[in-house]
Amino acid sequence: MSTVLESTKAVPSGAALKEGAAPQGNASHRRGAAPQETAVLQEDAATLGKTACAIADAAAAAAGSSATVRPTDPADIAASPFKRDFPLLANHPELAFLDSAATAQRPKTVLDAQRRFYEDMNANALRGLYRLSVEATEAIEVARERVARFIGAPSARDVVLVRNASEALNLVAKAFAPTVLGPGDEVCITIMEHHSNLIPWQQACQAAGARLVYLYPDEQGVIQPEEMDAKIGPRTKIVAAAHVSNVLGIENPIAELGRRVHAHGGYLVVDGAQSVPHMKVDVQALDCDFFAFSAHKAFGPFGMGVLWGKHELLEAMPPFLTGGEMIDSVTEQDAQWAPVPEKFEAGTQDAAGIYATAAAIAYMEAVGRDVIERRERALVRDCMEKLAELPYVHVIGHPDPDRHHGVISFNVEGIHPHDVASILDMQNVAIRAGHHCAQPLLAWLGQESCCRASYAFYNDEADTDALVEGLKTVWRTFNGE
Ligand SMILES: Cc1ncc(COP(=O)(O)O)c(C=O)c1O
Repeated sequence: MSTVLESTKAVPSGAALKEGAAPQGNASHRRGAAPQETAVLQEDAATLGKTACAIADAAAAAAGSSATVRPTDPADIAASPFKRDFPLLANHPELAFLDSAATAQRPKTVLDAQRRFYEDMNANALRGLYRLSVEATEAIEVARERVARFIGAPSARDVVLVRNASEALNLVAKAFAPTVLGPGDEVCITIMEHHSNLIPWQQACQAAGARLVYLYPDEQGVIQPEEMDAKIGPRTKIVAAAHVSNVLGIENPIAELGRRVHAHGGYLVVDGAQSVPHMKVDVQALDCDFFAFSAHKAFGPFGMGVLWGKHELLEAMPPFLTGGEMIDSVTEQDAQWAPVPEKFEAGTQDAAGIYATAAAIAYMEAVGRDVIERRERALVRDCMEKLAELPYVHVIGHPDPDRHHGVISFNVEGIHPHDVASILDMQNVAIRAGHHCAQPLLAWLGQESCCRASYAFYNDEADTDALVEGLKTVWRTFNGE
């Protein structure tokens, strides 16, 4: 059955909605505790730290005092003190960038870190015994430590560095799922999954003769306890869920899903692509078994993703991709795998990207996760209040702005989302329109596509005002005054 999530106003039915083997000597870099920061890295961290502290000071100064500013205080979002840290936003003050859920803008510290790696540290990590290569290797390990701290992972050795969230989720579905899934078993996912956390499970189920079961939310996008109780049972071997939906912006009840699937001896996989940029994440508090995210949505570079997994599970899994760097030894007919995490990191890694990811994390930490959350909440609230004044705009999902983590999906009555996005683009407002790689969700909502404005903490009220003015122009374009 298809259900349209209750919007702040219902969408009218007439709306047109279309839409190489490492030298032995290198083994020491791959084993045991991560090496200490080198002088170069310490100096770099100090630079990052200073810049980041300055940014945090500027944020605190702009906000008055981060401790006392209320999230809904409009002064909080009047003018972003952060835009100047982001070259693209600083260079294009006319742009209202509201597509951060697709990919975020990067602060200068991240761009500088990437460039600096190539200028000062570039060598192939793991492969050389000379200083540069050792430093490149250590840069990766320092970044791994930073990622681990950032997501509350007990050990950096359980942080696998991959290309993006999609690869991380494929890794779990292709390497882990076959070790626990058999005919008649079930994998349970939510209807709001991004295709990256859906297609891998379709394939895993098809390969194992297992069944893919869907959790559906209520009219406001909330997955209720009764739904979890009805769908998660003794046959459920894996629950895989988005921490935050990329269409509804809603946070899913991860801990409750975990409690239920663990009670039946199953495992919990969390797609954190849309939560990491917006909220504090602690994989131990979530009690998940695997957690995936992409750096590019969290102010880091393209081509970098993270998979964290419980050590004993990673240890027991076979590799996903094979080749250089993921082995201990190779004979003509056989190979011994390297330890976790290198077992899952075949081939040359993007060391510069990994280094820049550490810079992105440093930046977010300096701004402060609480500041990020409070600003975004205020931004989303402001936007939803202003959209509510346009009778022809219909917001999809929960009526409470606090339940939309940076994401507001909507439709404009009778106007195709692609037309909406194109006309907004003419007014320098960048939003996304389409199915948002969540076709089963859109189908369940009874829609082919929708518009999505997505926020990051660097946005401000002017971006929302540009969106609102743009939507008035969209409406006038199709309907006259
Ligand atoms: C919820 C969610 N999961 C996974 C992904 C896939 O991320 P990537 O394309 O970086 O692999 C996205 C991307 O939009 C997403 O929003």
